[in-house]
Amino acid sequence: MAEFAGKLAIVTGAAKSNGIGFATALLLAQKGADIVLHYNSNAAAAETAVSKLQSLGVKAISVSADAASPDFGTTIVDATLKAFPNRKIDIIINNAAAVLFASSAFDNEGFDNIFHANVRGPLLLVGAALPHMAKPGGRVISIGTVASRIGSRFAGLYAATKGALNTLTFTWAEELGPMGITANIVSPGPIGTDNVPPEEHELVKRFRSEQQIKRNGTVEEVAEVIVFIASKGSSFVTGQVVGVDGGFSHA
Ligand SMILES: NC(=O)c1ccc[n+]([C@@H]2O[C@H](COP(=O)([O-])OP(=O)(O)OC[C@H]3O[C@@H](n4cnc5c(N)ncnc54)[C@H](OP(=O)(O)O)[C@@H]3O)[C@@H](O)[C@H]2O)c1
Repeated sequence: MAEFAGKLAIVTGAAKSNGIGFATALLLAQKGADIVLHYNSNAAAAETAVSKLQSLGVKAISVSADAASPDFGTTIVDATLKAFPNRKIDIIINNAAAVLFASSAFDNEGFDNIFHANVRGPLLLVGAALPHMAKPGGRVISIGTVASRIGSRFAGLYAATKGALNTLTFTWAEELGPMGITANIVSPGPIGTDNVPPEEHELVKRFRSEQQIKRNGTVEEVAEVIVFIASKGSSFVTGQVVGVDGGFSHA
């Protein structure tokens, strides 16, 4: 039997075919999980993504919601319960994020929006899903960033949102642990998606100087680690920040 057969996973920000979210949804579906694929704006991409998942023989739906909106969690959970009545939510992957590059650490434009999308959004989703999660066995996996550990003037607010998400995750680990639910961060370094700056960017030069493996990672390399953390084999792993970054020597 497939490893994730009978499991139900919510993956946010998963419509883009070249993103970490879709790579994760695809790997979970290849291993038998049913998928609630969340997207923000790109309905056509979400439709294509859901068709690909369904072609693997699993059940998959898409749901649109703005992570910065106060009803983000209830919108996704209501759609999940409607499409999958009488099922528990086994896995939540908080992958959707507003990514903001800046020229200075003091460029605070968009502060409310990015904190709402990247911090309050996951908090609302986990809160709305909690009564319906598998207990024991549930998994909450949030996608962080190496920038939350090293900081960067090019991504100050973005890095700070992910730092807050790390800390929330430590708290979730404490609060959800007695229910048998684990909470972890998978923290990528530079990964070859639409979000990574070009090789000549000062931030990427810094990455390369501090990485033991001096390149961008692939979405598949991140998805493999996320799916391990989602698996039965990770049952004693919680409250961790797992770097998938080529080994930062100074972080
Ligand atoms: N790529 C990297 O180098 C890297 C490094 C470290 C961490 N990460 C993290 O990895 C995750 C995935 O990033 P990615 O590089 O794969 O980028 P991506 O393909 O652009 O994925 C981000 C997704 O987030 C969604 N999103 C953005 N703002 C949203 C909002 N307000 N409401 C709902 N959804 C929203 C987007 O949905 P729509 O397309 O539908 O708008 C998009 O699909 C993010 O958490 C990011 O912070 C990436």
